[in-house]
Amino acid sequence: MEGDIAPLPQIVELAERYGAIMMLDDAHSSGVLGRNGRGTVDHYGLHGRVDIQVGTLSKAIGSLGGYVCGTRTLIEHLYHRVAACCIAAFEVLEKEPRLIERLWQNTRFFKSGLSRLGFNTGASETPITPVIVGKGDLAMRFSDELFKEGVFAQGIGYPTVPEAKSRIRTIVTATHSREQLQFALDVLEKVGKRLGII
Ligand SMILES: Cc1ncc(COP(=O)(O)O)c(C=O)c1O
Repeated sequence: MEGDIAPLPQIVELAERYGAIMMLDDAHSSGVLGRNGRGTVDHYGLHGRVDIQVGTLSKAIGSLGGYVCGTRTLIEHLYHRVAACCIAAFEVLEKEPRLIERLWQNTRFFKSGLSRLGFNTGASETPITPVIVGKGDLAMRFSDELFKEGVFAQGIGYPTVPEAKSRIRTIVTATHSREQLQFALDVLEKVGKRLGII
C-alpha cells in the first residue's frame, strides 16, 4: 500500500529461527524488482529461503491469473488437493440437494427479516444480499459497528458501486443456523437504528 519493500531478509531470518514456513505474495514485485523482474527474493538474494511464493499475472505481466511456486512436493500436493476438492464438491452437490434447499430456506428467512426491518436490499434474488445505505462513509461505519457487535459484513463504496449506493454485503450459507441468522438480524436492527439507517 505504501510502495515500500518488505524487509524480507529480516522476515526470513525470523522464520528460520522459529521454524516457520515462509510464504511471499510478490504480486507487486514480479516484473519490477530483481534481475529481469524476478521479484523480491532475487532483489535481496534470498534464493531457496522462501518456501512458497505466490503472485499475480495481472499486474506487470499484463494478463490474467496467478501462480504458485514451491517445492515439487508442494505443487503436486496442490494439484491433487485442488482436483480432489472440486470432485468432492460436485459429489456433494449431486448427492445432497438438501444443502441447496437449506441455502434457499436460510436466504428467504434472512431476506424477509431484512425487509421487515425496513432495510433496502436492492435487486438481490440470491443469497448475496446487499444492504444499501447511501454514502460510503456510512457504509464503512455500519460495517465497523456491526463487526464490534459480532457480525461481519464488508462495507463496499465507490468506485466498486455508485457513491449513492454504498452498502454492506451480506452472504447467507447453507450451514448458518436459524439462531445465527436471527442473531445477525438482531444486531443489524440495533446498529441500523443507532446509525439512523432504519
Ligand atoms: C498483494 C496482492 N496480491 C494479489 C493480488 C491479486 O491480484 P489479481 O486478483 O489481479 O490476480 C493483488 C491485487 O491487487 C495484490 O495487491
